[in-house]
Amino acid sequence: MAGKALLRRIAPPKQLAGEVTVPGDKSISHRAIILNSLAPGSSEISNLSPGRDCLSTIDCLKALGVRFKRQEDRPGALVIHGVGSTGLTEANNILNAKNSATTMRLLSGVLVTQPFLSILTGDISLRSRPMKRLIEPLRLMGAEIYGRSEDSFAPLVIRGKKLHGLTYCLPVPSAQLKSAILLAGLFAKGDTTIEQSQLSRDHTERLLKRMGAKLESVNAHTSLTPLTAPLIAVDVQVPGDISSAAYWLVAGAIHPDARIKIVNCGINPTRTGIIDALSAMGAKLKLVNQHLEGNEPVADICIESSQLKAIEVNREVIPRLIDEIPVLAVAACAAKGNTIIRDASELRIKESDRIMTTIRELSRLGARIEELPDGMIIHGGKPLLGTEVKSHSDHRLAMSLAIAGIVAEGETIIHNAQVTEISYPAFWEELGRLARY
Ligand code: S3P
Repeated sequence: MAGKALLRRIAPPKQLAGEVTVPGDKSISHRAIILNSLAPGSSEISNLSPGRDCLSTIDCLKALGVRFKRQEDRPGALVIHGVGSTGLTEANNILNAKNSATTMRLLSGVLVTQPFLSILTGDISLRSRPMKRLIEPLRLMGAEIYGRSEDSFAPLVIRGKKLHGLTYCLPVPSAQLKSAILLAGLFAKGDTTIEQSQLSRDHTERLLKRMGAKLESVNAHTSLTPLTAPLIAVDVQVPGDISSAAYWLVAGAIHPDARIKIVNCGINPTRTGIIDALSAMGAKLKLVNQHLEGNEPVADICIESSQLKAIEVNREVIPRLIDEIPVLAVAACAAKGNTIIRDASELRIKESDRIMTTIRELSRLGARIEELPDGMIIHGGKPLLGTEVKSHSDHRLAMSLAIAGIVAEGETIIHNAQVTEISYPAFWEELGRLARY
């Protein structure tokens, strides 16, 4: 990613205490931007994710003719002047999703239906992430979409056209894939039905319903009727991102003198695997002030120092905590016993190969972890020792290593730490605010 490489030094604080407001949920922000762009009329998003990934989505849509206005007096507020389903125009350059797979995959679902040519690229990491899983179902809907290396990778080339609906069984429980197919299905001829072996995050479905789309979900099956009327532009108050909260949840649980409250955090059940996993490990975790915002559940989460024990994490819970596994591995290092994480081979194709990079960097700090093809076994209870570690240009790994550094003896130095800007630009500042030395 662009920007000056930054090095961060973490010394273990005596105490962690305070209240945290985490950034707006990244997944919900992408969807609020994209769907409101496709609705005629104006909408306002509050507490939009400040990360670079959502900026990529905004920049791509600007290039496709959508107008946005920031509210200078309210950071995180964005007005979208939606163009409706037929208002997007051909971009006069390649669209760059940078590090954001959600941008690339969800926008592809829209662009395959638009009557013009689009070319999408990304940074070196995104250009190595699998796109055949996206291209295959969209082609089955009649789409003209091509990728590099026999349709495996971006750049992607799309010539939009009229599509037909599809009944499709997702080969992996991926919300990006499901959302791309649903977005294409909105403008197709005939219904689209998606069958999944496990439930993945359902923010697209929730927002589409709010915007007037006809969509039904039963267990992990979702059926969508193509739009007969335009989507209704809606204001979205984005809840705090549980994937960002996860760092403070683990920090609060493993630090010997901690008490942290995370306010206004999304607790959509398709995302709360980290809460379930930490609770099963014995974390003193409490949800208070539960309510709905839009149609997303929200709560304050309180966490304090806890004696953790090992758990087994597998198939059922993996899609509900896929992005939190690196920091869950940090919790497992502090837990008593052997934590086993399986059925998580999707981790190998995230911003980095997170099985390999998590094990490599936590091992530098003295953790004892065995690699499995689809996960890892973490032998907990071994004290961590501060040293130099690398982020592998992966935002979630950089933040997980910072949390490990909080409980490691001595100083932990994280290279390429600026990558946290992808999802959580204020992470280091927040850590400084919570830590007492
Ligand atoms: C996301 C879905 C997940 C997740 C990613 C965000 C989304 O990816 O890992 O960070 O917003 O839909 P997959 O759909 O590839 O599982």
